[in-house]
Amino acid sequence: MCGVIGYVGLGANPDFFFNGLKRLEYRGYDSAGIAMLTSDGTISVERAEGKLANLQSKLARLPAKATVGIGHTRWATHGRPTENNAHPHRSGDIVLLHNGIIENYRPLKEALMAKGYTFTSETDTEVAAHLLNAEYSALPASLPAFEKMQKAIYKTVAQLKGAFAFGILCTKTPDVLYAVRLGSPMVIGEGEGEYYMASGITALVEHTRRVMFLEDHEVAFLRSSGLTLTDFQGAPVKRDFQKVEWSVSMMEKGGYRHFMLKEIHEQPQAIAQTLQGRLEREAGRVNIVDYGAAALPLKSIDRLQIIACGTSFYSGLLAKFFIEKFARIPVEVDLASEYRYRVSTVTKNTLAVAVSQSGETMDTLQAIKFARSSGAFTLGVLNVPGSSIAVACHAESLIHAGPEIGVASTKAFSAQVTNLMMLGLALAQERETMKPNEIGQVIEELVKIPAFVEQCLGLSDAIEKLANKYHSERSILFIGRGPQWAVALEGALKLKELSYIHAEAYAAGELKHGPIALIDEDLTVVCLAPRDEYYEKTISNIEEIKARGGKILAVGTEGDKDLMALADDFIGVPPTSSIVSPFATTVPLHLLAYWIAVRKGTDVDQPRNLAKSVTVE
Ligand code: G6P
Repeated sequence: MCGVIGYVGLGANPDFFFNGLKRLEYRGYDSAGIAMLTSDGTISVERAEGKLANLQSKLARLPAKATVGIGHTRWATHGRPTENNAHPHRSGDIVLLHNGIIENYRPLKEALMAKGYTFTSETDTEVAAHLLNAEYSALPASLPAFEKMQKAIYKTVAQLKGAFAFGILCTKTPDVLYAVRLGSPMVIGEGEGEYYMASGITALVEHTRRVMFLEDHEVAFLRSSGLTLTDFQGAPVKRDFQKVEWSVSMMEKGGYRHFMLKEIHEQPQAIAQTLQGRLEREAGRVNIVDYGAAALPLKSIDRLQIIACGTSFYSGLLAKFFIEKFARIPVEVDLASEYRYRVSTVTKNTLAVAVSQSGETMDTLQAIKFARSSGAFTLGVLNVPGSSIAVACHAESLIHAGPEIGVASTKAFSAQVTNLMMLGLALAQERETMKPNEIGQVIEELVKIPAFVEQCLGLSDAIEKLANKYHSERSILFIGRGPQWAVALEGALKLKELSYIHAEAYAAGELKHGPIALIDEDLTVVCLAPRDEYYEKTISNIEEIKARGGKILAVGTEGDKDLMALADDFIGVPPTSSIVSPFATTVPLHLLAYWIAVRKGTDVDQPRNLAKSVTVE
């Protein structure tokens, strides 16, 4: 959580920092701040509570141009979202901002207070600012300021426990930007006579596509003339810059009212990009791994553990149905936040798959590290290049969905499911549970998905009308069977996070074991019942709802008269195979959550209390 941006070079204006923070606002949006340091050593800091827009009116108080500066948008962990708690924090000559959590901040704070440091915020970050200042001030005044800063940074990080990405300025070194990383993301960008730092590449691509991902235990000392990279002991580190493929237009709304709506509409493209270059249609083969493929022992894998959070968890649940079917292999899907608190049962033949859009989710990162240290082979199914989870895994498979800015994940979900289905096929081919022609048949279905999703996007206007009817519900139940159960879970999550309407999903067959008690004339149940192998049974469950007076919003196959007769409202998706079907029914549920949120007037792209990249446990 939290977004950080930094600059060093011939000169950047306040808008540079503000616009960079706008690109990172999805990472946190409860307060923000900017510090700019001019070449004469004058530092200016402006901070504001609330959304980034509140900082805009203060930009005029900052210098027109500065050689070095940093900015921050916050997702509160320690301390309420007030201006005092907003970053950056200052201590003497030092100004610092932080993404992460300093776990041992209490004893450090007490020690610093005993030394006479006064705290003006409730944050863990201010501890780091004072500690760095204390270490810096303790060094002989005769040493050059830059050398003092280097030494002080190494001494400071050695005392901190937790996760941190720091951006630091020192008024005595107005030509240097310091970037530090342990456990929270930090990307360095290279321009012409200037360098940038940020929590994510979304903030950099409008300035440069040449980036370098800092790794844990590294510090970058950035000057307009060049950069030095060291580890936390001061030993030099060498790493080259690489080119990223993301472009500015991918991060604009492109005429859509919200990023979320744009990203829902980008699903056909996202799925197509995930499939691209990985399928050998004629030969009936797939290859999904981008790096680490050679080491990935697919043949000997006898069990899969999919580990994820939020929407990514539901993509794992959905993919489970297909992977088990294709590869005849047991698949467990675990919530990352629970996974590592259980006794590990992995063996060297376990493939642990971390599924994460951001690649930075702390729960998933820690869980996959745990799986790896327990002996599993680890694979990251990820969207953002160069992420912490990619570094933590043996192998990586990118979903190539492009930047996802809306906090609620949509296109990444569909792309993840597609990717995991291909993993199922890759396992099937190595384990020989499917013949090449059978794999070829599934491939033919996979390549149809984008076109079907495109057709379902045409339902948007009809669903907007339905949203007018359902937006004032207090609670909505979702049901589905088989893969549609996972879709129901995803639909309920989307609805609650966007519209704040209580929503719950149940496996349709489980309805009679409890939730049926909730059904009366006031409860709406979204019933997923496309014509698939589970259809008859799901229809029986819908009858049970009808018999108890519940309202039924059915999502089924176009023209299904039986279902229409049962339903109060009906959304029809084109008839498809069982492989394409969950993608088709996901679209109306994403659109339903979207339009209900719009109708209710909630903040669609940045729902309250949430952040897109959750880097705390
Ligand atoms: C947060 C986001 C969700 C996302 C989840 C997992 O909670 O708000 O939209 O599904 O994190 O994120 P990941 O980046 O690991 O997929």
